[in-house]
Amino acid sequence: MKVTTATLLNQCYGRYAVPAVNVFFMEEVIGLFRAAQHWAAPIIVQTTPFARDYAGADMLVSMVEAAERTFPDVVFALHLDHGVESHITGAIGSGRYTSVMIDASHDSFERNVKRTAAVVRMAHEKGISVEAELGILAGVEDDLLVSAEKSFYTSPAQALDFVRETGCDSLAIAVGTSHGAYKFSGGQGLQFDILEEIGEKLPGFPLVLHGGSNVQSGVIKRINAAGGKLGEAARGVQDEEIRRAIPLGITKVNIATDMRLLWTMVNREFFRDRPEEFTPTTAGALYMEAYTDYIGTKIALLGAEGKA
Ligand code: G3H
Ligand code: 13P
Ligand code: NA
Ligand code: ZN
Repeated sequence: MKVTTATLLNQCYGRYAVPAVNVFFMEEVIGLFRAAQHWAAPIIVQTTPFARDYAGADMLVSMVEAAERTFPDVVFALHLDHGVESHITGAIGSGRYTSVMIDASHDSFERNVKRTAAVVRMAHEKGISVEAELGILAGVEDDLLVSAEKSFYTSPAQALDFVRETGCDSLAIAVGTSHGAYKFSGGQGLQFDILEEIGEKLPGFPLVLHGGSNVQSGVIKRINAAGGKLGEAARGVQDEEIRRAIPLGITKVNIATDMRLLWTMVNREFFRDRPEEFTPTTAGALYMEAYTDYIGTKIALLGAEGKA
């Protein structure tokens, strides 16, 4: 059952968080819905502009809708992740998304407010909610690379003004996470003092944590042992940090990198260990199974099990 994103985020505030997972192809859509069904957890299915361009927006969204028919008990929302106006107009116009993200966080505060407020007006007319972003995360999202020097934390005072002035429904904040597989390479962690202050300024208002992947060192090691060459310095967001962030107002935790790493691990090990294989569906089935299991651990971590 598709529900509005706002419903999911308002329901969980302060108690648990909803996993918001970026899907790129069929195995991921099925793996995600299987997990949601098995653990009776609400989920947010997210598509980035890159994912929409890969096979086409209609193909991607149609797969999600096929999953909706296949798993009618699954409670989910469909969210456009990191959109700009051109994607947002398409997603809203399609009538198939329940929320969109306008990411104008790279603009000045004033311009971010202006662009976000315009998207909010357009989206609310159609009953679609809007996630906005204030502050800049470092790392790589789709094809945009942001250096650590260009990133900055969200200002709690500005966050309050921003929400009031834009009317956005949830806010992605920069409190130390970054996108991609190299987050916290320098050893920094989540900035709880900033998160706490934002939560105090915006009580009850859903906050979103981007860059929520754990980047398990065990997975990186297995990838590298199977021929990969990934840096081993990153430590990702620790489970303990996620648990602490939820009572402070984090309602949605975005996850993409962990699934990309999982895909890499499963496939590298598969082809290393079974060199005679050339059947995509054999590896695909393994990935789907691993994907479902891994999402299960995220559901447990966020406390979302049984909340659908
Ligand atoms: O939701 C997908 C629809 O097919 C619309 O696609 O955003 O490229 O217009 P679009
Ligand atoms: P990760 O790179 O930590 O998976 O973050 C994903 C994200 O924020 C997508 O919007
Ligand atoms: Na998002
Ligand atoms: Zn993000």
